Amino acid sequence: MTLAEKIGQLTLVNVGPGVLPGDLRAAVRAGKAGAVLDVVDVATVNELQRIAAHDSRLGIPLLVGRDVIHGFKTVLPIPLGQAAAWNPELVQQGARMAALEAAASGVNWTFAPMIDIARDPRWGRIAESFGEDPHLAAVLGVAAIRGFQGDGLSLPGAIAACAKHFVGYGASEGGRDYGYVGIPEVDLRNVYMPPFRAAADAGVATFMAAFSDVNGVPASGNRFLTRTVLRDEWRFPGFVVSDWDSIVDMVPAPVANDKARSPLSPGMEMVSTTYRDHLPGLLAAKRVDPRLLDDAVRNVLRVKMQLGLFERPVTDPAVYPGVASAANLALARELATQSLVLLQNRNGVLPLASKRLHSLAVIGPLADDAYEQLGTWAPDGDPALSRTPLQAIRETVGARVTVQHVRAMSTTRTMTTAGFSEAVAAASGSDAAVVFLGEESILSGESRSRASIDLPGNQMDLLRAVKRAGKPVIVVILAGRPLTIEPILADADAVLYAWHPGVMAGPAIADILFGVESPSGKLPVTFPRVVGQVPLYYAHRNMGKPASQASFLHIDDIAARTPQTGLKNASQYLDAGYAPLYEFGYGLSYTSYAYSGISVEPSRARAGLPITVRAVVKNVGQVAGDEVAQLYVRDLVGSVTRPVRELKGFQRIHLAGRKPGGFVSIVD
Ligand code: BGC
Repeated sequence: MTLAEKIGQLTLVNVGPGVLPGDLRAAVRAGKAGAVLDVVDVATVNELQRIAAHDSRLGIPLLVGRDVIHGFKTVLPIPLGQAAAWNPELVQQGARMAALEAAASGVNWTFAPMIDIARDPRWGRIAESFGEDPHLAAVLGVAAIRGFQGDGLSLPGAIAACAKHFVGYGASEGGRDYGYVGIPEVDLRNVYMPPFRAAADAGVATFMAAFSDVNGVPASGNRFLTRTVLRDEWRFPGFVVSDWDSIVDMVPAPVANDKARSPLSPGMEMVSTTYRDHLPGLLAAKRVDPRLLDDAVRNVLRVKMQLGLFERPVTDPAVYPGVASAANLALARELATQSLVLLQNRNGVLPLASKRLHSLAVIGPLADDAYEQLGTWAPDGDPALSRTPLQAIRETVGARVTVQHVRAMSTTRTMTTAGFSEAVAAASGSDAAVVFLGEESILSGESRSRASIDLPGNQMDLLRAVKRAGKPVIVVILAGRPLTIEPILADADAVLYAWHPGVMAGPAIADILFGVESPSGKLPVTFPRVVGQVPLYYAHRNMGKPASQASFLHIDDIAARTPQTGLKNASQYLDAGYAPLYEFGYGLSYTSYAYSGISVEPSRARAGLPITVRAVVKNVGQVAGDEVAQLYVRDLVGSVTRPVRELKGFQRIHLAGRKPGGFVSIVD
C-alpha cells in the first residue's frame, strides 16, 4: 500500500444526508477514503462500494458508519429507558432488529453502544447511556454488541459495533458536555472502565475515543488509555476511531508532554483531516513510528475482512426483512412497556381499571406529539410510524369513555398560560386527568446540558392548575434524563416515568395506565431531590461521618443562634438532606413480591471461587407482573475503600397472578 492508501484507510469522511460531494467519488477511487458516515441511501452506498471494490487500485470496500443508537426506522426507547427495563435479552433483540434495518441501507458499522457511566443528569448524553452503574451498563452493553454483531460479523445483517466513548466522558465537570474529566485511576478502573472491558471481552469490533481531556491528556491522544490499557492489558485487536473532530479538538488543549500523548492513538480519524494533512510530514521527519501506522491500517483491514466486505461489498436490500414490520413494532412496544417506571401511586389511583371511569382528560404538550416521543437519536426514524399516548388511550377505552384532549402548551418550554383554562375545564369535566409533561427530545442528547433539571417552561403551573380541578391526576413524564420532580409529587396522585419511549410510546403507556400490564421498570439512575445534590449515586463510599435520620436537622428547623457544636456533623446538606428522591433500582408495581429462603453458598467467600445466591420470589399480590431481582454486595474490608453497595447480578422474572389484569377485561 502507498502511504496515501494507508492514510486513506484511516480516513472517515462525513457525507451527510443528501450530500455526496463529487470529489468523494474521486477520493474513494484513489483509495483516499476508507470509511464514510451518515449515508443511508442504499443506492448511494452501493455506488460508493462499487467504486471502492472495483475501481480503486486495491479494491478495499468501505466501512459505512451510522449512529444506530436506539433503533433505526423502528425507534426504540432511548438507551436510558432501555436500561430501566433491566432486560438484556430485549436489549439484544432490539439491537439485532436495528442492525437488520440499518444493514438493509448498506450500513455496516454503528457508533453504539454508548457505555459511558453517567452519574450527572445535567449532562444531556445521560439519555444515551445505560445509567450510573458499571455492572448494569456492562451487561446491557454486551447485550447490545451481541445484537449488533449477531452470531458472527461475517454473517449478513451483522454490523460492527463500537464501544464508546473511551473513557470517562460521562464524568464531564459540572455535567457540561466536552468538559474536563478528572477521575482517579481507582475509579477509572472500578467504575468507568468495566463496561469497556466487558465490551472488549465480548468481541466488540471497534472503540471510539472520548472527546474528553482525561486527567490532563485528551482521550484522543492518551497513551495510557489506548495503548497501556486497551492494547497491552486488554489485548483489544480491533480499531479505535476518534470522535468527530476530536483530534483537532486537541489543539485548544495542547499537551506539553509528548510522552503522554500518543500519535495515532485512535487508529481512524473521524471527519477532520489531520492524518491526511500532517502524517506524511511527521513520518518523513521521523516523529511518528511507521509501525504505528501499519498497525492502525491492519486493525481497520481486519475488521473489514471480518465483516465479509471483500466478499459482499454491495448490499441487496431484498435479502433483509422489512423495516418497521409488525414484529419490529411489537418488539419496540415490549421494550417500551418494560422501560416505564412507576414512581408514585397514591391510593392505588393506577391502574385506571374501573367500571366507574366514564371520562378522561388527556392534557399536556407531550400527550400527542409523534416526534418528541422518539428521543434524542432518531435520525432515521419516522414520526409517521409513532403511536402517541392520546391515540392509544382512545383505542384502549373505545367509545365507553369520553376522552378530552387539551395540549395546553405548545412546547414543554412555553411560558404563557394561554391553554390552561381549557385544560382545567377538561379536568373538571372528567373523572380523572392524565397529564403528559417532561422535556422535548432536543433538550437532551449531545451538547444539551442543563444547569437546572426542573420541568421546563410553565409545566409546574399547568399541573397545579389541573390539580385544582379536584380530580385524580396522573402525571406521565417523557424526558431524556432524571428531572428534579419533587415539586410535582404533592399534586400528582401517580407518576409514571416514561423517558423517551420511541415509536410505540402510546400503546406501552396505555397498557400501564389501564392495567393491561403491571409496571416493571426500575430506575437505572438515582433521582436527586435538587440539582445541587448532583453527582448523587447509590454506590457511594461510606464517609467517616455518615448521615442518618438522627443526624439530620433541616435548615428550617435550626433554632436561631444554635452554637456550631449544637448540630451533629454528618455528610449531608442542610437544605436537601442526604437521601435522593428515588434510589437506583426503584420502581413500583401493581402487585407485590415476597422474598424468602435466601441462601448463600458457600457461606464464607473464598478468593477466586464463585458464590451462588438463591432466593424464592413469590407474587403475593393479585395481578401478574415482572419482578427484577437485584443482588448487591458490599466488600467490608479491602486495601482501598469500596462502595456501600454494588450491583453484581439481576434477573427479570415473570410471575403469574390470580386475577386477569386490564381495563378491557374488567370492563368487559
Ligand atoms: C458523537 C458520537 C457520534 C459521532 C458521529 C459525535 O459528535 O460524540 O457519539 O457517534 O458524533 O455522529
